[in-house]
Amino acid sequence: MSRYDALFEPFTFKSGVTINNRIVMAPMTHYSSNDDGSISDAELRYYAERAGSPSLVITACANVTANGKAFTGQPAADRDEMIAGMKKLTGVIHKAKAKAVLQIHHGGRECPPELVPNGDIVSASDVDTSTGDAHARALTSDETEAIVQAFGEATRRAIEAGFDGVEIHGANGYLVQQFYSPATNRRTDKWGGSLEKRLAFPLAVVDAVKKAAAEAEQPFLVGYRLSPEEPYEPGITMADTYTLLDALVEKDLDYLHISMLDFWSKARRGADPERSRIEQILERIGSKVPVIGVGSLHTADDALKALETGVPLIALGRELVIEPHWAEKIRSGKEAEIQTALKLDDRERLVIPEPLWNNIISRPGWFPFES
Ligand SMILES: Cc1cc2nc3c(=O)[nH]c(=O)nc-3n(C[C@H](O)[C@H](O)[C@H](O)COP(=O)(O)O)c2cc1C
Repeated sequence: MSRYDALFEPFTFKSGVTINNRIVMAPMTHYSSNDDGSISDAELRYYAERAGSPSLVITACANVTANGKAFTGQPAADRDEMIAGMKKLTGVIHKAKAKAVLQIHHGGRECPPELVPNGDIVSASDVDTSTGDAHARALTSDETEAIVQAFGEATRRAIEAGFDGVEIHGANGYLVQQFYSPATNRRTDKWGGSLEKRLAFPLAVVDAVKKAAAEAEQPFLVGYRLSPEEPYEPGITMADTYTLLDALVEKDLDYLHISMLDFWSKARRGADPERSRIEQILERIGSKVPVIGVGSLHTADDALKALETGVPLIALGRELVIEPHWAEKIRSGKEAEIQTALKLDDRERLVIPEPLWNNIISRPGWFPFES
């Protein structure tokens, strides 16, 4: 009996996938796949070092079409040649007794021109890229439909590669969110024009993914990740997020993953600004769909306190980069030894691939460092 037992209770998703604790590895881009998007050895070593802690590993986001690639070293799920490498990845994760979920993604206007064929950046509407140094072209309706189908095809590949599920990346300003946001969707066809029509793309992606998932012979989960608010106007407000949540709870998903940098962050617009977003989201959806909470949870006590809000699962991102053995340490009563900041000479000891390390170092303030 330990005060942290609540973290180590098993959990079964609607689809029948069972996990043996409440800790999820948050999806994290590692910039370390091979140039063609196939899984690299460095990436396998990075996951092997960490997969013993969480019971569910959500991978770095994988692009579902060539024009959805947003990062150098991004894993790809856009063609069948990728399946062999993806199988190695599920092998590594399963060996550590965790379940493996592939995050499926299209970068839309966030894609740098040099990473997409012919520099042709696409989005819901004609908009600048988020950095403003290039322009994105509005997808035609047929192209939009093709991307919806590509999410389904990526799901089929995930099943063939032995994944236990997929997570639709509907967060952090990428294409799925670009279609929902009034800032980036100014279309007047069936994919935009009103709040309801802006929902069309996210919901079509869910339907295509669920259809592909239904073909799996083993229990296979489908989750959806969303960002609850955009900071700018016009942009997604909490009120808009409630509309999205209401639609998603009807879709029989295994979980909703609320992407935030701080689990306890408060609502800005369209909900009570005095209360945390997560609590208000939980009130809105009740127990209809399990929620994964995330954001700056470092210690065992942080995680326990987060679970007390009623979220059944918590995800750790940076913390698992810094401390690959987070859960093992708590389980063996060594929670005081959990490392919560990086040291400048930690890269090799922590099995952090060099491209990820270089990104961390070049963005001061992103990861905590010991002085
Ligand atoms: C290195 C790194 C890469 C990330 N890549 C992704 C990604 O591919 N997909 C995604 O949905 N979120 C991504 N995120 C966001 C994390 O999943 C998480 O929401 C965020 O880091 C907050 O959690 P934390 O405080 O536990 O790190 C990334 C975060 C980090 C630190």
